[in-house]
Amino acid sequence: MCKFRLYDESAQSYHRRYSQIQRIKYQAIVTYLERCPLVDVGIGTGIGLASIIEFAPIVGVDWAIEMLRIAHKQVIKINEWNQAISLVCASAEALPFRNNVFPTVVSITVIQNLNNIQRGIQELIRIVQPRGILAITTLEKCLPIQELETEFNQLSTPIVRLENLGNEDGGLIYKLPS
Ligand SMILES: C[S@@+](CC[C@H](N)C(=O)[O-])C[C@H]1O[C@@H](n2cnc3c(N)ncnc32)[C@H](O)[C@@H]1O
Repeated sequence: MCKFRLYDESAQSYHRRYSQIQRIKYQAIVTYLERCPLVDVGIGTGIGLASIIEFAPIVGVDWAIEMLRIAHKQVIKINEWNQAISLVCASAEALPFRNNVFPTVVSITVIQNLNNIQRGIQELIRIVQPRGILAITTLEKCLPIQELETEFNQLSTPIVRLENLGNEDGGLIYKLPS
């Protein structure tokens, strides 16, 4: 079975089960974010939307349509505040964006799931603007933060190692060079 089908099938239970813990991770990164528009790569069911809404316009990317369906419900709630939020069904390993377009890129608990992690890292870096911010977390039991940092080291240096993500994820904030 394709991996994204597994996410489709578990979308409802994911949203119920992980809302609280994932929200903590989004809340931990917002203080480091600076400018909009923001892209959330692997937005899932939109658990983090309320935390990052101040950086709208927001583009949320995910390859699992059932995850995006739930995210769309969150968007409808949030649209009471008239924020611009777009959802895109696409792979994190082949993002449908031009180079250097987003001042802020976030990806929370996604990178460890990719088939080709290096390819995913290249894609995340490719779409960040010069001097833009990339906030990334990884589920440590699948991909330890040290390994992620090693993968990134050839490309950029983290400015912050996140400490307050709960006990599942490690996270890094990068500011891309000019
Ligand atoms: C653990 S969930 C995290 C979702 C959201 N960031 C959160 O914190 O609630 C991982 C998400 O990444 C998505 N994902 C995994 N591999 C992907 C890929 N190659 N391309 C796009 N999305 C992917 C899954 O569909 C799922 O929604």
